[in-house]
Amino acid sequence: MHTTMETIIYHFPFGLLLLCILSASIAISATNITTDQFALLSLRAQITTTDPHHILAKNWSSGSSICEWIGVTCGSRHRRVIGLNISNMGLTGIIPPQLGNLSFLVSLDVSTNNFHGEVPHEFAGLHRLRVLNLDVNNLEGYFPPWIDSFHELQYLTLRNNSFTGPILPSISNMSKLVTLRLSNNTLQGNIPKELFNISSLEIIDLKGNSLSGSIPDSVCDRLGSLIELDLSFNQLNGHIPSSLGECSQLQMLSLSGNHFISGYIPKELGNLKMLHSLDLAGNRLEGAIPKGIGNATMLKSLNFDYNNITGNCTSPFGLV
Ligand SMILES: *[C@@H]1O[C@H](CO)[C@@H](O)[C@H](O)[C@H]1NC(C)=O
Ligand SMILES: *[C@@H]1O[C@H](CO)[C@@H](O)[C@H](O)[C@H]1NC(C)=O
Ligand SMILES: *[C@@H]1O[C@H](CO)[C@@H](O)[C@H](O)[C@H]1NC(C)=O
Ligand SMILES: *[C@@H]1O[C@H](CO)[C@@H](O)[C@H](O)[C@H]1NC(C)=O
Ligand SMILES: *[C@@H]1O[C@H](CO)[C@@H](O)[C@H](O)[C@H]1NC(C)=O
Ligand SMILES: *[C@@H]1O[C@H](CO)[C@@H](O)[C@H](O)[C@H]1NC(C)=O
Ligand SMILES: *[C@@H]1O[C@H](CO)[C@@H](O)[C@H](O)[C@H]1NC(C)=O
Ligand SMILES: *[C@@H]1O[C@H](CO)[C@@H](O)[C@H](O)[C@H]1NC(C)=O
Ligand SMILES: *[C@@H]1O[C@H](CO)[C@@H](O)[C@H](O)[C@H]1NC(C)=O
Ligand SMILES: *[C@@H]1O[C@H](CO)[C@@H](O)[C@H](O)[C@H]1NC(C)=O
Ligand SMILES: *[C@@H]1O[C@H](CO)[C@@H](O)[C@H](O)[C@H]1NC(C)=O
Repeated sequence: MHTTMETIIYHFPFGLLLLCILSASIAISATNITTDQFALLSLRAQITTTDPHHILAKNWSSGSSICEWIGVTCGSRHRRVIGLNISNMGLTGIIPPQLGNLSFLVSLDVSTNNFHGEVPHEFAGLHRLRVLNLDVNNLEGYFPPWIDSFHELQYLTLRNNSFTGPILPSISNMSKLVTLRLSNNTLQGNIPKELFNISSLEIIDLKGNSLSGSIPDSVCDRLGSLIELDLSFNQLNGHIPSSLGECSQLQMLSLSGNHFISGYIPKELGNLKMLHSLDLAGNRLEGAIPKGIGNATMLKSLNFDYNNITGNCTSPFGLV
């Protein structure tokens, strides 16, 4: 029997290839635009209590093609749903698991509504996603573990929700991530060092959570494109790493409202030639403002309030 199988495979490689192609095409045809319609109708059915402007109730009618529905974009080739944008429509409801069946989706924006409950784990099926915006809703639950399926994601923003728990190290599976905004949630634990390994990142905004621990010394080793780093209003501690001076594209750095301690503002921050805004207010910093800071000549906004900084401000900025 074993020999027979080997003989078959050896003698009929094309048959095997055909079999593979056939089963692949069966897998593809298992979902079609009817799947997408079912997913969107499941969403419409969830908008139970309010759809104040009756946008979905009226416009998302089974009489018309889903590609003509408000907020829906279909791909020109496959006529599958590639974009869904129902931002700011005053919608209340949960996000149904069927949305995870929109397997061609590239961009999903449900921001500024009143979606609540957890984001279903079926979202793991949205592996083509490049943009995910869930800002300003009442979504809750742990920081989503399914993000490690999002190999194409470039833009992830979950601001103003109630996500909790730690940011998972598998965040680094999103190796094309450019923008990460998680501000105004209740995320806890350390910032995983894997985050600082995503070399495509331009924006890291983790403001207003309950993150603790310190920033690793290697923070800038791979973040050559970082423009904005906002870690303000958390419970971070330890030193401000001098290696932050190596994030050479940085324009905005805010570490205010944390517990950064002892010692000195690293003079290397002055190496940040693009820096517009530096906010270190509300920490436990001591000592003098280092002279090197004056080398950051693009600075327009500087805040060192509520620390224990001594000395005088004139010499670092060449004001003598
Ligand atoms: C989608 O596939 C289902 C079976 O999986 C089939 O019944 C349906 O007719 C198909 N719809 C279209 C529009 O091809
Ligand atoms: C839904 O809205 C789109 C875009 O405004 C419009 O073209 C379409 O005719 C509407 N469909 C229905 C059934 O109201
Ligand atoms: C969704 O629509 C809103 C309002 O039209 C727009 O501001 C926003 O950029 C859109 N989102 C995406 C991801 O294109
Ligand atoms: C879509 O998702 C739901 C729930 O996750 C599931 O029950 C259903 O079988 C899926 N497939 C299709 C083709 O709708
Ligand atoms: C995430 O990355 C790790 C390490 O690179 C890998 O082992 C894992 O399979 C990835 N997860 C997914 C869902 O791709
Ligand atoms: C964010 O949430 C807070 C508290 O729930 C609210 O006061 C604030 O207006 C929200 N921000 C936006 C942009 O909606
Ligand atoms: C976060 O919440 C504060 C106060 O609740 C609000 O002023 C701010 O606009 C919110 N930020 C975002 C990004 O929504
Ligand atoms: C960061 O990436 C480098 C190179 O790919 C790898 O060697 C290292 O283990 C990664 N570190 C973390 C913390 O993921
Ligand atoms: C400021 O920059 C100048 C010229 O690049 C350099 O010579 C000097 O050492 C720098 N000062 C500090 C304190 O880093
Ligand atoms: C501030 O620093 C000075 C000297 O560096 C020290 O004497 C003082 O106790 C510190 N105050 C606080 C509140 O830490
Ligand atoms: C500030 O420092 C400069 C240079 O070291 C010195 O000339 C100046 O007198 C100092 N000013 C005050 C108010 O201590």
